[in-house]
Amino acid sequence: MSSLLLLNGSPRGTRSNSMKMLSRVGEGWVRGGGAEPEVLHLALERDRARAAEAFGAADTVVLGMPLYADSMPGLVMGFIETLAPFVGRGENPRLGFLVQSGFPEALHSRPLERYLAKFATRLGCEYAGTVVRPGGEVLQVMPDRANKKLWESLRSVGASLVVGAFDPVVLSRIAGKERLSPTMVRVMSLAEKAPVTEFYWNGLLKKNGAWDKRFDAPYASA
Ligand SMILES: Cc1cc2nc3c(=O)[nH]c(=O)nc-3n(C[C@H](O)[C@H](O)[C@H](O)COP(=O)(O)O)c2cc1C
Repeated sequence: MSSLLLLNGSPRGTRSNSMKMLSRVGEGWVRGGGAEPEVLHLALERDRARAAEAFGAADTVVLGMPLYADSMPGLVMGFIETLAPFVGRGENPRLGFLVQSGFPEALHSRPLERYLAKFATRLGCEYAGTVVRPGGEVLQVMPDRANKKLWESLRSVGASLVVGAFDPVVLSRIAGKERLSPTMVRVMSLAEKAPVTEFYWNGLLKKNGAWDKRFDAPYASA
């Protein structure tokens, strides 16, 4: 049976949106006939130390991450740099990615998707495609049962990976809207200012001890 390594590149680790999505890709892989996947969280030191070796041993790898500042978290960049010894090695794994973002339009993740496709090819891996999903932060607040369609689509691309690449038709269903209509943009800008939205983000700032620093601008010129 073919082996799959799921690498979770979210600094949030086990309770991340990236992991919620990756685990469904893994379920689909098993449903399609693949072996039970190994899961490593790059945010955990112990897992990070094993990640490059596990990468070299797997048949297929899916590296999942949140979009950070229109790119990847530093944690993922650091991991990618450890793969330098694998450049051009003959038996590299097939490599796919999952990028999910907070903003509700898929187009924010497209530049990173292009980077990742180029990276896989330069490494000498067969590129299996990238799952792009906007609006990922809602997964923290919505109950899992409210996302059945998304989970099923993720299982479906996981199953398609056993026999080849991610199914492009399902990928486009998962990505949804590339760009919101002008009306939706107006609705979203109002929703951004709603007390419930502020309550959520303010809660995160307080929980992480960053409330007093919320107006800091360390790079602003004096
Ligand atoms: C430091 C930081 C930077 C972020 N930058 C972006 C961004 O540029 N675009 C975006 O759409 N979302 C951005 N987000 C939102 C995350 O991509 C989003 O909340 C994601 O679902 C978090 O996934 P996780 O739980 O797997 O970490 C950012 C979040 C953080 C904490």
